[in-house]
Amino acid sequence: MTGGLGYIGSHACVALAQKAIPFVIVDNLANSSLGVIDRLAELVGYRPPFVEGDIRDGDLLVETMERHAIGAVMHFAGSKAVGESVAMPLDYYVNNVAGSLTLFAAMVRTGVKTLIFSSSATIYAQTNAMPLAEHAALGASNPYGRTKLFVEQILFDLSVSDPAWSIACLRYFNPVGAHPSGLIGESPRGTPNNLVPYIAQVAVGRREYLSVFGGDYETEDGTGVRDYVHVLDVAEGHVMALDYLRRHAGCVAVNLGTGRGMSVLDMLHEYERASGRSIAYEVTGRRPGDVARCWAQVSLARDLFGWQATREVEQMCQDSWRWQLANPDGYA
Ligand code: NAD
Ligand code: UFG
Repeated sequence: MTGGLGYIGSHACVALAQKAIPFVIVDNLANSSLGVIDRLAELVGYRPPFVEGDIRDGDLLVETMERHAIGAVMHFAGSKAVGESVAMPLDYYVNNVAGSLTLFAAMVRTGVKTLIFSSSATIYAQTNAMPLAEHAALGASNPYGRTKLFVEQILFDLSVSDPAWSIACLRYFNPVGAHPSGLIGESPRGTPNNLVPYIAQVAVGRREYLSVFGGDYETEDGTGVRDYVHVLDVAEGHVMALDYLRRHAGCVAVNLGTGRGMSVLDMLHEYERASGRSIAYEVTGRRPGDVARCWAQVSLARDLFGWQATREVEQMCQDSWRWQLANPDGYA
């Protein structure tokens, strides 16, 4: 598993351990900390094998895959901040695209041809009607999104060139929440870019108020609408996708979302209920590049993997809050 110490990867570790599926984590700690391993050990009952290293180091990947007799790869590693990708496009193309290419080449060298790739709803063109089905038009509007789109296209080419590949590109909508134990969760460095971590930091008193980016969208309350999905549902989706890939060759792209949209203010009020605290906010201008509405059509994940999101937004906020309260500074 690449990027297994990150937010989504660490929850995937727990989901795999729950099914007694062994795994090895490769992570360069660019956006995570070693403390995650202690927490995982507490949760799953053993210290998961960890290799500190970079996905751009092909020899290290080959050696790791051979030494551990790896049969499949979950590829979470990558950089994910949209604004940063606009400022530093080359870094994003090198880490997300070149890094992925190095990983795929290492997989070819070791004969490992089963792969789950962390894709994103951000690759859908902004002109589509809701809900977004997997066959909707694609088109990314920033370098980060383009890295995801390019890698998906590379993977489709790869599966055409060699039918022995089994690949799932999982298009996450908005993963939020944390493990209900409060032991692992999202630990953003610096100012959070995403809504729920920001709300959490306001609720816990680390920040004064939430800036609501735009109150004049064509939505029920004027604020942006997204498909928030519990990170554990997303993690479990990977385990179910892996099971599917063991029985099916080819390359599929599949949405992981709930199929329901929530506005920024809906989310804020849910979080107030979960935390019992009032959360100050101020409506400001729109954030460049944001869409008004975005939610998934979710039937394909159900049809192929037998997966559907099971956790409600109430639980997303409660679990996020438990994590935030127990770890006000994240893993730091
Ligand atoms: P994250 O930053 O918490 O985790 C990514 C992990 O990859 C980190 O632990 C980081 O240290 C590691 N990493 C980065 N570059 C690396 C490299 N070159 N070599 C080895 N390790 C490296 O992010 P996340 O939220 O867990 O996201 C996981 C994946 O899902 C990413 O690819 C992201 O683009 C994608 N995704 C995330 C979201 C979201 O909202 N969180 C939505 C859609 C897609
Ligand atoms: N928002 C605010 N204030 C904030 C942060 C966010 O009002 O401080 C609003 C946004 O304008 C948007 C909603 O909250 O309407 C959600 O914003 P996020 O930044 O949490 O999520 P996005 O949908 O913009 O993007 C996320 C990830 C992307 C990913 C995309 C689709 O950040 O990397 O989901 O999966 F591509």
